[in-house]
Amino acid sequence: MKILITGAAGNLGGQLCRRLADQHQVADADIVGDVSHKLDITDYQACRGLIDAMRPDIVLHPAAWTDVNGCALDPDKALRVNGVGTQHLASITGGRGIPLLYVSTNEVFDGALDRAYSEYDRANPINAYGYSKWYGERAVAQLNPRHYIVRSAWLFAHGGRNFIHAIRQAAKDGKPLRVVTNEVANPTYTSDLAQAIVQLIETERYGTYHLVNEGAVSRWQFARFVLDASGFANTPIERISRHEWPRPSLPPEYAALANHAGASIEIVLRPWRDAVRAFLEAEAAP
Ligand SMILES: NC(=O)c1ccc[n+]([C@@H]2O[C@H](COP(=O)([O-])OP(=O)(O)OC[C@H]3O[C@@H](n4cnc5c(N)ncnc54)[C@H](OP(=O)(O)O)[C@@H]3O)[C@@H](O)[C@H]2O)c1
Repeated sequence: MKILITGAAGNLGGQLCRRLADQHQVADADIVGDVSHKLDITDYQACRGLIDAMRPDIVLHPAAWTDVNGCALDPDKALRVNGVGTQHLASITGGRGIPLLYVSTNEVFDGALDRAYSEYDRANPINAYGYSKWYGERAVAQLNPRHYIVRSAWLFAHGGRNFIHAIRQAAKDGKPLRVVTNEVANPTYTSDLAQAIVQLIETERYGTYHLVNEGAVSRWQFARFVLDASGFANTPIERISRHEWPRPSLPPEYAALANHAGASIEIVLRPWRDAVRAFLEAEAAP
């Protein structure tokens, strides 16, 4: 297949490129990084030019402005990139019958349920990032019938800055650790998510999917598990409430995702603890 991947310099986009490059003809595109196609998804003509020149069999679209606090401070830019940029890709691919896979987020939900969100639960974003991603979801659903919307959560990847790296670094530096107890989601290894996406695009079972490592956990429990598994079992972590950690973008409180649609076609990611252990082993490998 000819596959166009947006956000290819990012954590998930890079992982998708590496996984698919062996068996497919992959075009990697991003606004930054060492990629073969510089592409700003807010530029409609540039998106159309690249898609028409390449005629991909599918477009995978993880590109996004993922700085959630930046999105809260500049909601217009969030909508321009995550919403309207996605709309461009949806209308171009939809008009040409090209399938589109859009990566979205658990932050399209408000976090007010006391159970994990299913694919059929109603989105109700409570911050600018979540709203911009939800706008992108609606554009994809309305403009391209051959779409996959893949929601995920709390991604961790090798190389990139993420929660696991930050917690371990703070423990190494002997810094006092304070972590929120009342924010819950599913820590998800980009490598597992990329593998699940590769499986999904072979199925042509279009629709909305919640692809996360199995199990939900609070930020505090996640941090505790990481330190225990990294040789820092004696490092204390103070438990704090989310209101003691003010940020421009407050995430939903209980934003765990349940994978029903993927499970029905046997696409299930391993439990998050196994994924974190595998990640830590890979980080420790020479
Ligand atoms: N990270 C998470 O915890 C998480 C959780 C749930 C869902 N998601 C979703 O998963 C997807 C992948 O996340 P990730 O963590 O891999 O993101 P990432 O590492 O930030 O990668 C996104 C890439 O898109 C690029 N980009 C930004 N604006 C662009 C534009 N106008 N045109 C083209 N490319 C642009 C980014 O460049 P810059 O670096 O210059 O911005 C970056 O290289 C995103 O759609 C995100 O919303 C992420």
